[in-house]
Amino acid sequence: MEVIVLPDAGRIGEVAADAIGVLLDRKPDAVLGLATGSSPLAIYDELAARHRAGEMSFALARGFTLDEYVGLPADHPERYRNVIDAVVVAKVDFAPGAVRSPDGLADDIPAACAAYEDAIAEAGGVDLQILGIGTDGHIAFNEPGSSLASRTRIKTLTRQTRLDNARFFGDDVDAVPTHCLTQGLATIMAARHVVLVANGRSKAEAVHQLVEGPVSAMWPATILQHHPHVTVLLDDAAARRLQLVDYYRETYRSKPAWQGI
Ligand code: F6R
Repeated sequence: MEVIVLPDAGRIGEVAADAIGVLLDRKPDAVLGLATGSSPLAIYDELAARHRAGEMSFALARGFTLDEYVGLPADHPERYRNVIDAVVVAKVDFAPGAVRSPDGLADDIPAACAAYEDAIAEAGGVDLQILGIGTDGHIAFNEPGSSLASRTRIKTLTRQTRLDNARFFGDDVDAVPTHCLTQGLATIMAARHVVLVANGRSKAEAVHQLVEGPVSAMWPATILQHHPHVTVLLDDAAARRLQLVDYYRETYRSKPAWQGI
């Protein structure tokens, strides 16, 4: 696991966009895993800027989002499908239908989850997965106690996650759905490269557990310690509880430029 502490969200966006650019140059039909939430917004802004500048095309790329609320109406602005369309899909040149999401309005939820797993497999798996992390250590919506071997399924959101996300629902926690569909931890672990982004003090404990804690379903993100290629991009506030932060900084400073992330 590579831990990179950067001065601000803008720089985090640039480093992640560099990696996505290298991937798309090598593999124009790459499969990207797209997280929603506030953490990846700087990455999406940077991708949109590079696309506008003619430096990056997603015309052949495919995408899969991580998760979706259950039961939000199709036109609800906080439905993750609508959020991802607004923050990135509409700002670059993905082909119509190239970005898929779990169907939170499906009548048959187990079938919709199985179909989503099949679609990811048929696309050849995810090449680069962008992730945020919840204050309780969730990735996607794999809440504490999630099976480390889980696949796409329905989950109940914790009270903490609903409180954290109330800011998107007019600060009304009761307006935040109670259930979601989410890629499982094993689904995420199958991605070839995972780029996890965290900003701000509220993420510091989850980041400490992710990087330096024991692997445990109580902090679901810790499963990433078993992944061969994870890059963790942090601002200073999110890195403030890391015991080895000086070592991570020194390692990144002295990293050979050819290595990339
Ligand atoms: C979003 C997702 C979640 C968020 C996490 C952090 O698709 O899967 O795991 O990444 O809740 O959210 P933000 O970035 O809003 O703090």
